[in-house]
Amino acid sequence: MAFSRGAFVPLFLHLCLLVWSAWAKVNVTMPETVEVYLGDTAQILLQYRFDHNESNDFLIQWIVRNEDNSRRRIWYYDNLRGHNVADRNTAYTDRIEMTKDQQSFLLTIEDVQLSDEREFYCQVNGLEARTSLRVFAPPEAPVIEGVTAAISVTNDLPSEVATCVTKNGYPRPKFTWYRNNVPLMADRDDLDMLTLSWESQGLYTVQSTLQYKVTKEDKDAEFSCEVSFLVPGTIRRVKSSSVNVTVHYPTTMAEMWRESPQGLVKEGDTVELRCQGDGNPPSSFNFSREQEQDVDLGSSGDVLILAPVSRKDSGIYQCWPLDGDGHGEVKGEMQLTVHYLDPAVVVPKESELMLKGEDLTASCNALSSLRTSTVWYKDGKQVSQGNTLHLQDATYATTGEYICEVTVPSLPALHTSGSVHIVVQGPPQLVGMEEVKLEEATGRMVNLTCEAHGHPLPSISWSVIGTQNWREVWSRENEHGTQSVASVKVTSDVVAQCNASNDIGAEVKTFLIKALPRDTTTTSFSPAEGSGIIIVVIIVCLLLLANLGGVLYFLQKKGKIHIPCGRSGKQEITKEIANTDDIVVEMKSSARTEDAVLLKAFNGDKQGPDAQ
Ligand SMILES: *[C@@H]1O[C@H](CO)[C@@H](O)[C@H](O)[C@H]1NC(C)=O
Ligand SMILES: *[C@@H]1O[C@H](CO)[C@@H](O)[C@H](O)[C@H]1NC(C)=O
Ligand SMILES: *[C@@H]1O[C@H](CO)[C@@H](O)[C@H](O)[C@H]1NC(C)=O
Repeated sequence: MAFSRGAFVPLFLHLCLLVWSAWAKVNVTMPETVEVYLGDTAQILLQYRFDHNESNDFLIQWIVRNEDNSRRRIWYYDNLRGHNVADRNTAYTDRIEMTKDQQSFLLTIEDVQLSDEREFYCQVNGLEARTSLRVFAPPEAPVIEGVTAAISVTNDLPSEVATCVTKNGYPRPKFTWYRNNVPLMADRDDLDMLTLSWESQGLYTVQSTLQYKVTKEDKDAEFSCEVSFLVPGTIRRVKSSSVNVTVHYPTTMAEMWRESPQGLVKEGDTVELRCQGDGNPPSSFNFSREQEQDVDLGSSGDVLILAPVSRKDSGIYQCWPLDGDGHGEVKGEMQLTVHYLDPAVVVPKESELMLKGEDLTASCNALSSLRTSTVWYKDGKQVSQGNTLHLQDATYATTGEYICEVTVPSLPALHTSGSVHIVVQGPPQLVGMEEVKLEEATGRMVNLTCEAHGHPLPSISWSVIGTQNWREVWSRENEHGTQSVASVKVTSDVVAQCNASNDIGAEVKTFLIKALPRDTTTTSFSPAEGSGIIIVVIIVCLLLLANLGGVLYFLQKKGKIHIPCGRSGKQEITKEIANTDDIVVEMKSSARTEDAVLLKAFNGDKQGPDAQ
């Protein structure tokens, strides 16, 4: 076997190395990897052990591998020749140091760069060990941004939900997406995760966009992302904040109710019906009545206003969401009942004539959708309850206006009333006794009062016998009757009659006034009469005094008697007055005779049977 010249030299060198290494037999070990944060200091520890005898005879070289796979020495140590230096003009010249310890050498690299992530070799007396240096730069915390536009559940494809960004990490960080803290697996059909990354000075900025097919349940869901990245010895994770999304979904259920008025609805009210569905955004509605679904009752959004309502508006109302498929399955429904009370109808109508003593039944009815209550009033006082009014044995007091008030206890705002005017017809009926007896001093004025009830209204006329001096001082009519007052001067016995008459009949009331004689001991004379009598008395006195004058003079002359002018004198005067009465009567005799004749005629009429 022959070696070529070219092959001989390396073979020879190899043999020499084998001899040398056999001579300085040493074991070297280094960690497989050394992990360090960007900018930190890395330390690579080389441990050695001699197989046989210890030696201080070291030749050590630290070498790095370049990107192009070439190798470059960065540190040289020769124990025998006293070399322990970094090679000049390398990326490590100023950043590395090597220190020797017992059984180990430590290479220190300061301010580790991303470019330091490479393999480091160490040759000790020709034997080589290797370490990979790994560099880590944790990224910034992830920033999430949810889409602000609403997402519809009707979208066929996944829609963008949120985007997460994390900056300046090394090695390249990864994203995981979460929905309500449950990770979203990338292999699902209803989602996509789009990742983009940029590199800047060796550091990675990564952006992930979640595309997701939202459902109605997602309206309350929270989405977040988590970035995971390697750090020395472990994997670290940092979560973003959460975002939620606005989900639009159609109405699947609608509810309808009456917003106002509260309680029972009556005719004339303004009724507000409202509809609400479970869709988002809240749907607008079409309103209709069950009986005529094709008639759209204009509405504004979710409100239907009916004003003013009448009983014809009662019925079932429906609302149909506009975001659904028109008049489909989804609808709201409610019953509206409009209550009413019709005007009261009173029978008999308006006014009714009754004869005295008659009976009458009136009725008052008002049609209502609710139970009613009827009360009858007359002159502000309740006279009957219930819708019929019984008037029995009518008297003039029965006459009047009867008002029926119809109310609805369950809906007080509903009420109505009607009325009937009852007039009791009959002959005049005078108030009080048929015959009234009075006594009055002659010359006095007496007021005689007559009050007659009856319908038609009686008229009252007076006839007075016994005095000329009378007149009707006033008369008054009201609904119930007529009143008249006559003022009569009592000059002698008087018979006064008031005659109340109407179309149906007449009634008479008689006043018998007995004229009391004028009591002369009293001073109740009228001044004219008194002065006349006094003049006569004085004349008579003077005459008597003149006659007596001679007698007294004669007696005195004889000294037989003494009469003082005192009481006994007065008595005599009174006697004389009684004698003069005839004169007074005489003065008035003509008038007295006339009255007496009339009175006799009337008495004869009245007391006919007695006279005969
Ligand atoms: C997200 O949720 C919060 C709290 O639950 C709520 O106040 C907010 O309105 C929601 N935002 C969206 C877009 O749904
Ligand atoms: C009678 O009535 C008239 C009118 O009311 C009144 O002015 C007069 O004083 C009355 N006379 C008597 C005596 O009561
Ligand atoms: C009362 O008046 C009426 C009507 O004027 C008459 O018919 C009647 O005779 C009168 N009665 C008396 C008692 O005067």
